[in-house]
Amino acid sequence: MPSITYELQKTCPHTGARAGLLHTPHGTYETPMFMPVGTQATVKTMTPEELKAIGAQVILSNTYHLFLRPGPELVEEAGGLHKFMNWDQAILTDSGGFQVFSLGDMRKITEEGVTFRSHIDGSKQFLSPEVATKVQEQLGSDIAMAFDECIPYPAEHDYAKRSTARTTRWAHRCQEARHAHDRQGMFGIVQGGMYKDLRKQSAAELVAMDFEGYSIGGLSVGEPHDLMNEILEYTTPLLPTNKARYLMGVGTADCLVEGVARGIDMFDCVYPTRVARNGMAMTWHGRLNIRNAQYAHDWGPLEEGCQCYTCKNYSRAYLRHLYKAEEILALRLVTYHNLYFLLEFMRQMRKAILEDRFSQFRMQFWDNFNK
Ligand code: GUN
Ligand code: ZN
Repeated sequence: MPSITYELQKTCPHTGARAGLLHTPHGTYETPMFMPVGTQATVKTMTPEELKAIGAQVILSNTYHLFLRPGPELVEEAGGLHKFMNWDQAILTDSGGFQVFSLGDMRKITEEGVTFRSHIDGSKQFLSPEVATKVQEQLGSDIAMAFDECIPYPAEHDYAKRSTARTTRWAHRCQEARHAHDRQGMFGIVQGGMYKDLRKQSAAELVAMDFEGYSIGGLSVGEPHDLMNEILEYTTPLLPTNKARYLMGVGTADCLVEGVARGIDMFDCVYPTRVARNGMAMTWHGRLNIRNAQYAHDWGPLEEGCQCYTCKNYSRAYLRHLYKAEEILALRLVTYHNLYFLLEFMRQMRKAILEDRFSQFRMQFWDNFNK
């Protein structure tokens, strides 16, 4: 039995949406799901108890950051990432590919791997398919990602083609380098930029390698939403129906509902936690910035009807005051609400799929939501 399996429970008759179960070495989880991001072995401002209270299932962490600090040996010494950060549910680690490529001038890509300068101390570092695979085994995540290159947008077809072919060769090297098959699954990452011929080739080559699941990378990199949806709609059907499909780096309500409609099971994004720290709250009507003067005397909750701890106990006026006074609690309370909102949003989508009313859910969502 592979360490990670996907069990399909229901497919929407009108869209590509599906509900299922993801079985992992640390439990079984419901899809479609949103994974909160804990880049540095912590979901910023949230304790594991708080994450569980809002129904978080799988969380994501980053090879790139933990590789540089504190280093995989220290995490190993703790007994793995779960013990290190006191999280006993499943963890998915990204491979570092995406983070390294975000460094711009500070990195150099060769067939062997990527040489880069640490954003922490400027030291010279190297990541490759073999290193990323080994580090993720040392971290002991439930799901590891293959080491890939995320193609920037826009990119010429010629560059995208060479990069995608290299990502495929790197995926082979990750498979070759693996040991921990029984304790850790690995997902391949489909690249190909905005080019359908390359997406098709990438998907076919990765599917032939029989990963435990498949990610779609290289989207939400600055392209228009319509183009992302078009590529997604083309790519998801190329993936096997009996494995999980994960759209990387997407975490706004509008993109989640459209991703689910196109057959995506898993998402992650720093968006809900990052924007919370700027006072941005996510709601069923769209975003609101709690620092805005219009909330100075607003004694209602962030969102009417929200069942989260923040909304049940604090007013917009109080939250605005906390931001204005630069109080730490402000960051905690809005982060808590944003994650609760997205997790609840996923639960409601899953329920709608299971009850054969996902299309209605999607229409109602768009009636209420202001982008
Ligand atoms: N996170 C968001 N997009 C990507 C991607 O294309 N590759 C990886 N590894 N992580 C991502
Ligand atoms: Zn709330």
